[in-house]
Amino acid sequence: MTAILPHGGKLINRLASGDERERLLREAAELEAIAITPWAISDLDLIGVGAFSPLTGFMTEQDYRSVVKNMRLANGTVWSIPITLSVSEEQSASLTPGKKVALTGEQDGVIYGLLEVADVYRVDPLEEAVHVFKTDDNEHPGVKKLLERSPIYVGGEVTVLNRPKPDRFGEFYYDPAETRKIFAEKGWNKVVGFQTRNPVHRAHEYIQKSALEIVDGLFLNPLVGETKSDDVPADVRMKSYLVLLDHYYPAERTFLGVFPAAMRYAGPREAIFHAMVRKNYGCTHFIVGRDHAGVGDYYGTYEAQEIFSNFTPEELGISPLFFEHSFFCAKCGSMASSKTCPHPKEDHMTLSGTKVRGLLREGICPPPEFTRPEVARVLIEGMSHQVVI
Ligand code: ADX
Repeated sequence: MTAILPHGGKLINRLASGDERERLLREAAELEAIAITPWAISDLDLIGVGAFSPLTGFMTEQDYRSVVKNMRLANGTVWSIPITLSVSEEQSASLTPGKKVALTGEQDGVIYGLLEVADVYRVDPLEEAVHVFKTDDNEHPGVKKLLERSPIYVGGEVTVLNRPKPDRFGEFYYDPAETRKIFAEKGWNKVVGFQTRNPVHRAHEYIQKSALEIVDGLFLNPLVGETKSDDVPADVRMKSYLVLLDHYYPAERTFLGVFPAAMRYAGPREAIFHAMVRKNYGCTHFIVGRDHAGVGDYYGTYEAQEIFSNFTPEELGISPLFFEHSFFCAKCGSMASSKTCPHPKEDHMTLSGTKVRGLLREGICPPPEFTRPEVARVLIEGMSHQVVI
């Protein structure tokens, strides 16, 4: 096992197995069921495998209020994003503390787990939005999702009975217990985690490799859960990561595994959350670059870095590695940032996401200084399939 402790000190395991699982499945089949969304199934599973350690269930009112206001669980442990289960007003009437309910997929009817109701509470979604997303603007994708949900939440411990099955790239799904073991077997003492919801462009590669210069291994951990519709789909991204790793990364110092969580677009708060989760996967370091987990211009370029100063290194337990906005500089002839490059903006190649997506859709490779040609080709092919569909 890697030396780093999971968040809260212990890796949570809420997965039922063997006879116990069979017994609980029979029990669950007789219980009242809450139909849960793919997003909630993903949260449930991530709680179950310990990716969200120390959470053992969906947040109770006390934890929820403390997280929203103070970025800490009620016991003081750092936690920045509410992990909650929303239920309809109608259903909430029958949920009383101590009651056990089955958690069933709303699309497939599969019993994914059990929840023991601790409490049922009503929230003010706008207040949650302002604290967590720093805006109540319905145009913000995270706020929009939040406002679409019922404002009644049910808290309580969960047990996972069935795992969601990935339809593709199943071989890249690893639970925290597995990644911890793998990093230890590789002999990596210092492991840097990299969160991404995008193809890996040259700027990402530059900051990853800068980090690799000072640690033993890179855990490329793309988020593949729900993202907003104009983000590049996960399966296209996965192909692009594979071709990039194949051509440009040292195989013995890189490891690719997916993070099957939903993207919240909560910028600074999500950066803290992303770091805590990567600690659970066994990372000792975590990269936070420019506008981490941001969307539009809701957050300042370095706000997701500044937020870390609210906590002591001990209570974070993982070292954030902060990187400046990076780019290719024509005069330097290399990737750089304002920390390393003395040249004016005109020499820097920066392309907006919208511009890049536009080029790719037209079948045009962005310049190699921006995206590796091998990656661009995979993206163009992936995007053209999207158009055909
Ligand atoms: S995110 O929503 O998952 O954060 P993205 O995949 O674009 O988005 O970013 C992954 C990581 O790379 C984040 O830490 C982000 O801050 C960083 N990053 C992205 N582009 C740059 C850049 N040009 N310079 C520095 N850091 C960057």
